[in-house]
Amino acid sequence: HDYDLLVVGSANADLVVGVDQRPAAGETVLGSDLAIHPGGKGANQAAAAARLGARTTLLARVGDDAYGRMLGQAQRDAGADTTGLLEGKDAPTGVALITVDSAGDNSIVVSQGANARLTPQDVAAARPLFQAAAVVSLQLEIPLETVAAAALTAAGSGARVVLNPSPPAPLPDDVLGLCDPLVVNEHEARRLLEGRTEGGSGNDLPGTPEAWAEALLELGPRSVVVTLGAAGALVATPGTATVRVPSPAVEAVDTTGAGDAFTGALGWRLGRGDGLVDAVRYAVRVGSFAVTRAGAQESYPSAEEIEKAGGTGGTSEKG
Ligand code: RIB
Ligand code: NA
Repeated sequence: HDYDLLVVGSANADLVVGVDQRPAAGETVLGSDLAIHPGGKGANQAAAAARLGARTTLLARVGDDAYGRMLGQAQRDAGADTTGLLEGKDAPTGVALITVDSAGDNSIVVSQGANARLTPQDVAAARPLFQAAAVVSLQLEIPLETVAAAALTAAGSGARVVLNPSPPAPLPDDVLGLCDPLVVNEHEARRLLEGRTEGGSGNDLPGTPEAWAEALLELGPRSVVVTLGAAGALVATPGTATVRVPSPAVEAVDTTGAGDAFTGALGWRLGRGDGLVDAVRYAVRVGSFAVTRAGAQESYPSAEEIEKAGGTGGTSEKG
């Protein structure tokens, strides 16, 4: 393969303001100076993998504007290929309005802009990228029909599909069935299981993350990874015991895009042949590192920084 990882997804300019406490409905609060960072779940995953040394390419859409150019430059700086980064004049680059509170937690509103114009036709035109990639990684900040086209094209090219349903939306069964793994955090797990577990409501998630993982496996993916923030992650595959992977203890500065760093790193490690549990061990370390610095892409570590940081699940274990 020419690429360890093809990411198909969104690219956003992140407009970030720090606040003591995120405002409630009807409330006005004063925040810090505005910071503008390259973001978007797709671009973040690609940047994370490329920064670690993965041969990475991104299929995404931006507008013909300064934010679009910033995002292209950020991909190139991270070492990713940008032949699939398409620029259109009909919509502005996507923007994410982000507030980060003093605990490092965030709230995000995304204005999709050009991301909403990434079509199944764009996927078809990018078929050579799919054929050249070991792993194709997907999220849901682009139209669902485009995600479905990308998943099916990936499967048709023999690539492994990694999918993070974020922001949560109902996934067609044929797409779910290709996920290997489906990567979810607690919130996304809840939303996927809503109405599908016995008793109905997502607020009645079965007690433990292990039970959620088992319930998610029943939706049809080939494997499930549940990320648990500071508590690490869980790996579930049919017919084997669920594995819990702990996270190194870190001081959270900004959790924005940490999940994307995790998933980008995971895709890379799977693309270079690691087993799923070993890939998750590495990805947990990358995600933890990303929360210790401000911003999304700008907070992502190099492989050397991960080595230096140490932590659980050393890279000597190869799958
Ligand atoms: O997952 C974090 C990302 O979500 C941010 O970079 C923002 O752009 C939104 O897409
Ligand atoms: Na960060």
